[in-house]
Amino acid sequence: MSQPDMRTTTQQRGISVTLRRPDFKYDADVPRMWHSGGAAVTAFWNALSIGAPLLEAEFIKDAARLEGELQSEDQIRELRSFIRQEGAHANLHRRFNDLLVEWGYPVQACEAPVRRALKLLSHTSSTFRCATALSGEHFIGEIGDIVLGRPEVLETVGDSRVTRLWLWHSYEEVEHKAALFDAFTAVHGTGVRAYLYRVTGLGTAIVVLSVTIPITVARLLHHDDKAGDVREWIRLGRYLFGTQGALRKRSRAIVQFLRPGFQPWDYLDNSALLAERRGDLIDPNWEVPDTRPRPQDAT
Ligand SMILES: [Fe+2]
Ligand SMILES: [Fe+2]
Repeated sequence: MSQPDMRTTTQQRGISVTLRRPDFKYDADVPRMWHSGGAAVTAFWNALSIGAPLLEAEFIKDAARLEGELQSEDQIRELRSFIRQEGAHANLHRRFNDLLVEWGYPVQACEAPVRRALKLLSHTSSTFRCATALSGEHFIGEIGDIVLGRPEVLETVGDSRVTRLWLWHSYEEVEHKAALFDAFTAVHGTGVRAYLYRVTGLGTAIVVLSVTIPITVARLLHHDDKAGDVREWIRLGRYLFGTQGALRKRSRAIVQFLRPGFQPWDYLDNSALLAERRGDLIDPNWEVPDTRPRPQDAT
């Protein structure tokens, strides 16, 4: 009789979640308005960068709580690699955010709505926060797919230093898109209770992102004296939701997530896209081998 396949759904697609530490640096000569889409589009990506370290630190905490409840060694190793990747993302976004501070942007004030949302969430259970985090992961994985599949979404004014951060981050978000989902499913199952957590987590993630991102974009634009410039807001609206918009037709991500049998790779198997972009985006020298003891050896 054949043995059941114990590998994670990510490993089954030939993907190994791997920690990488690129040495990106952000000097003051990076163009402030680095995106060719203008001030509001640049502010949109900067707003995501400002939120990233705070949200990813939260993902890490709740994912770490799940780790102790996992039985499969493959799953434990994958979840640990996911945690390490998110830690690296948080570090490099902090580095970029330091440049935003240097440019005079009110980064601390911009962080305030995200911190408030996280404070509210701190009154909920770890399981609920985990369900919210995996919904957030689903959205970020979707953005990762857009960035990898449509390079024009990150068109710059000729300086690729900021886009390299987003391309690497996007690559890894697609690479680990199922790690937290699968760990959550392994611990909480696929029953009604787990489904309800997932659906309410999704609603929470949507509220948090749709409140905090526009507020942050407005604050960043205000600093550039452009918050009242309607043309900038229209450009951003077109960039996101227009005929060629980055998020156009992506509402399916929400609809599909609501299916009881949803699984990130079954929903969208973009492993071929990952393999296709790997040579361009990933330097093997960034990879950090996991030399820590195998979970069963650790006492
Ligand atoms: Fe990340
Ligand atoms: Fe992630």
